[in-house]
Amino acid sequence: MITIIIVSTVTLMLLVFFIFLFITENQRRKTVHQKEKKIIEFQFQQELLRTQLEIQEQTLRTISQEIHDNIGQVLSLAKLNLNTMEIDKKEELQEKIVDSKKLVSKAIQDLRDLSKSMNTDNIEAIGLVKAIEYELEMVRKTGFKTELNVEGNIIRAGPQKELILFRIIQEVLNNIIKHAEAGSIISTIQYASHQIRISIKDNGKGFDLTPLNEKTHSSFGLGIRNMNNRARLINADFAISSSTGEGTEVVITVPLNNHNL
Ligand SMILES: Nc1ncnc2c1ncn2[C@@H]1O[C@H](COP(=O)(O)OP(=O)(O)O)[C@@H](O)[C@H]1O
Ligand SMILES: [Mg+2]
Repeated sequence: MITIIIVSTVTLMLLVFFIFLFITENQRRKTVHQKEKKIIEFQFQQELLRTQLEIQEQTLRTISQEIHDNIGQVLSLAKLNLNTMEIDKKEELQEKIVDSKKLVSKAIQDLRDLSKSMNTDNIEAIGLVKAIEYELEMVRKTGFKTELNVEGNIIRAGPQKELILFRIIQEVLNNIIKHAEAGSIISTIQYASHQIRISIKDNGKGFDLTPLNEKTHSSFGLGIRNMNNRARLINADFAISSSTGEGTEVVITVPLNNHNL
């Protein structure tokens, strides 16, 4: 009888002990999981801030370049015209007035375009498509032919996704301007209910992708790796296809869900 009592007491105590162990272990795991979630969320917010800053930096660079290269030049020419006008030389005067009018109109148009493109750091308000449109407009001014095709019904992907997508696209365009020696850029955005697919294709000299896939590409492709990492942050797929002499295509595919970030 006594042994039965002892055995059942010990069993009960063991059971209680294991239940206790189970609960505390579970609690510990939950806390660790929550901490990890918080860290990931914090890193995501940091990356978003960095992205926003980079977009603003790029916009400021574009603006200062545009003011210096275009608007400044055009207005200087108009001023030169005004300075060299001579009332007695009627015909020449007429010509210079017409010329100056054209120059001032161009400066006004350039300023309008510029103020539109300044909106690119407000993607949340204007949407991804408009932001890309303005960005391409600025690229066109540097001498490229550009084309933008939008297929399907535009779906807003949410401000965070759109911000990151836009920054990736800015980098793709920067690379084309810097490295591709291309004449034209064709961009296509395809909207489907479950995803957005963005393709940016140049007709430039292309490049060999093998160093990118090797482990030793220490300095090569920092920009590309950055784009890759950012795409991963929003569960997007980032793919480059290129071969020497054949131009380059970058395709970003981002899944959409009901609760877009
Ligand atoms: N559209 C392109 N056409 C030709 N070459 C390119 C293109 N995009 C990238 N590259 C090549 O890939 C390299 C890596 O690009 P990236 O990682 O952005 O670094 P970075 O632009 O700082 O050189 C570039 O140096 C260039 O040689
Ligand atoms: Mg680059």
